[in-house]
Amino acid sequence: MGAGQEKEQKREQWGSKLGFILAASGSAIGLGNIWKFPYITGENGGAAFIIVYLFAIALVGLPVLLSEFLIGKKAQKDAIGSFKELAPGKPWYIAGYMGLASAFMILSFYGVVAGWALSYTFKAVTGQLAGVAPEQLENYFGGFITSTASPIFWQVIFMVLTILIVVGGIKKGIERWSKILMPILVFLILLVIIRSVTLPGAGAGIEFLLKPDFSKLSAASFLIALGHAFFTLSLGMGTMITYGGYLPKGTNLPSAALNVSIADTVIALLAGLAIFPAVFAFGMDAGAGPGLVFITLPAVFQQMPMGSLFATVFFALISIAALTSAISILEVPVAFFKEKFNWSRKKATWIIGGIITVVGVGASLSMGPWSGFTIAGKNFFDQLDWMSANILLPLGGLVIALFVGWGMKLKDALAAADFSENEVVGRIWVSVTKFIAPVLIMLVFLHSLGILDIIISFVKKLVG
Ligand code: PHE
Repeated sequence: MGAGQEKEQKREQWGSKLGFILAASGSAIGLGNIWKFPYITGENGGAAFIIVYLFAIALVGLPVLLSEFLIGKKAQKDAIGSFKELAPGKPWYIAGYMGLASAFMILSFYGVVAGWALSYTFKAVTGQLAGVAPEQLENYFGGFITSTASPIFWQVIFMVLTILIVVGGIKKGIERWSKILMPILVFLILLVIIRSVTLPGAGAGIEFLLKPDFSKLSAASFLIALGHAFFTLSLGMGTMITYGGYLPKGTNLPSAALNVSIADTVIALLAGLAIFPAVFAFGMDAGAGPGLVFITLPAVFQQMPMGSLFATVFFALISIAALTSAISILEVPVAFFKEKFNWSRKKATWIIGGIITVVGVGASLSMGPWSGFTIAGKNFFDQLDWMSANILLPLGGLVIALFVGWGMKLKDALAAADFSENEVVGRIWVSVTKFIAPVLIMLVFLHSLGILDIIISFVKKLVG
């Protein structure tokens, strides 16, 4: 094929509807589901928090997910190009550039945490993890993530795997690997659940997940649930716009968005079911925070029959979930640089993946050797996490909801989302996207900047 023809070549597309759903679910299901969801649920009292989280997914996550899909599918472009295509001359595309910045930031630290999971998989297979005394596990984890070479080694391996899949392209890379890895992930999680719920004393953990105790909820819990709905569904940075951009005509978007939201939610709940029964069975602390998976669980695994096997399975599961998410984050800038500057996929992926890896090395070092260097009181790693998850994602999600709800003509938005004009569900979706989602997102945003607290205390003063 000549160079001229190469340029004329049609845009890449998903091979099948199932492939697209698996890839989008693979993006959604990640560290957010298996590492973060269980620990924030543990910290916020269990079942009551889960109920709030389910509302957040339904009222904000699902409508914004559908919005991202339709923007990409209608425009057939990357996250920035899509806004320019649909609203030429208007500033909506700035949301795309914010998404681009989020992608660099999130993948930098995401690769570091994924590297920890990879390394724990290795430590579990080789029996190293089983050899650490339970009360030493916290120091062991701390020692590992603050050391220099070892976490970087695993982070780089993880990033190279991510790059290799993305270099393969949409159909032969991302879709193919999602089709292989997602079923393995479901199988592995079921294995761990069977082990966990059959332990003596597992009932207390199941109760924790099912019996709501609303007294454990705080105002912050609502906002944590909402913020997490964004992160877990990969929203607010154009990932789902980019993936939607590879959709052929004919895929029904509302059903795709519903499928992906359900898959993501079910896996988060299953992760809870894999973790809490075991944690309770061994009398460990469900509210242990970010260390729940890396410190509490290894102690749990040590105490159960065939624990090394289940530890290996569990950390492999986290690594796989992280990989199918990382490729979707990398695809956002890759699609942009490919289309905007006509780079080949290979060039774009290696260059951008390389830069993100280098930034990630900085994030890893900031846990230990470089921890003295802080930006606004946070080390580099925490700053990347905080800025992207608390500012850029909610802001991006807000702009996307406003764009579809207010920037597009009602008729166009409904048609692009595959609704007929008078369909009730379509009308409900538009209203939620126009009013409810933006208000809720604004609340999260104001809260993360501390502004909400100032307003609340001001109102309290006025009233009282
Ligand atoms: N949804 C992924 C997770 O839950 C993280 C992610 C965020 C992926 C933003 C893409 C974009 O781990």
